[in-house]
Amino acid sequence: MKSLVCSSYGSPSDLKIIDTPIPSVKSDEVLIKVHSAALNFPDTLTIQGLDQYGLTLPFVPGREVSGIVEYVGKNVSLFKKGDKVMAHMITGAIREFTAVQVENVFATPKNMSFNEAAAFTVAYGTAYHALINRASISPGKSVAILGASGGVGVAALQLARAFDCKTIACVGSDEKADFCQAQGADFTINYEKEDLKLRLKEAAGKEGIDVICDMVGGKHSEPSFRSLSWEGKLLVIGFASGSIAKIPLNLPLLKGAAIMGVFWSTFSQKHPEIARNNMKALTELYDQGKLKPSIHKTFQFAEAHKAFSELSERRVKGKVVINFST
Ligand SMILES: NC(=O)c1ccc[n+]([C@@H]2O[C@H](COP(=O)([O-])OP(=O)(O)OC[C@H]3O[C@@H](n4cnc5c(N)ncnc54)[C@H](OP(=O)(O)O)[C@@H]3O)[C@@H](O)[C@H]2O)c1
Repeated sequence: MKSLVCSSYGSPSDLKIIDTPIPSVKSDEVLIKVHSAALNFPDTLTIQGLDQYGLTLPFVPGREVSGIVEYVGKNVSLFKKGDKVMAHMITGAIREFTAVQVENVFATPKNMSFNEAAAFTVAYGTAYHALINRASISPGKSVAILGASGGVGVAALQLARAFDCKTIACVGSDEKADFCQAQGADFTINYEKEDLKLRLKEAAGKEGIDVICDMVGGKHSEPSFRSLSWEGKLLVIGFASGSIAKIPLNLPLLKGAAIMGVFWSTFSQKHPEIARNNMKALTELYDQGKLKPSIHKTFQFAEAHKAFSELSERRVKGKVVINFST
């Protein structure tokens, strides 16, 4: 079978498609014939040797797929050959067959396409864990999303809307603001040209913002925090800007506010039952038409490296997906 392989840290053009053996399947794993794989921002870091997992070379990048079950390990009873599934992992997605621990494999909703399924687990899983498990959002709360047109951003925007929250989409260009408005955002802010703190205060009114989903970090985190309501919550989800803010600790004290870490993959490992229930709730929301992965662009497997460039150059609105010929 063919795999996309990172054998030296570098840029997307250093990735090569080579022949590799079909992975062997452990007793608690599912072998998936991959139909589609989707990229996430951390994939752009792993190929540069910059992610927190310290992957050893060579490795196959990518952390989410959809496809058809080809074979199941002897302890797997949840799935059988021929089932349509979606799955996530730390690495190993962008290849024709991949083996995934059963706890990270989920049945694909009947009406969900392979491309949507590939783009579902990580972004929506993360956003659900952030907004529901961590922030306990409820109708009427205001939710501001930094990086709202990205993969996790769109998922958070749609989920906050599904829970009848007021949504404030914060992005880096007018084009992305228009995209978020079309996604149903109540208010948009272009943080590259507008005063973020001022505009967040305008959006939220005198009470301030209840919840901030911060996927971007850097210079945007502190002004966002300063716009929080009494007992507001800043969800620390990622640092796509490449820098990590240092927030003075008098600020959470003055607002009775919380800075909450969100680490979905570790949460899923520690609490697989809750993670599976979360995915069930997410697929039900999909079936009700409240969630819809936004596919920015699809690439054929032979051009997978171009999908990495598209994402790392900040051009994507929603998700990029790689298709395998079947
Ligand atoms: N904690 C967790 O469990 C978890 C899980 C998944 C992802 N994440 C993290 O969440 C963040 C978003 O992931 P994603 O897959 O949704 O990424 P994505 O689709 O690339 O979205 C990231 C967004 O960040 C903004 N951004 C600002 N500065 C940027 C820069 N210098 N380079 C690239 N993007 C920049 C971009 O929007 P604008 O151009 O509008 O600014 C972009 O849309 C990442 O930091 C990722 O590592 C965390």
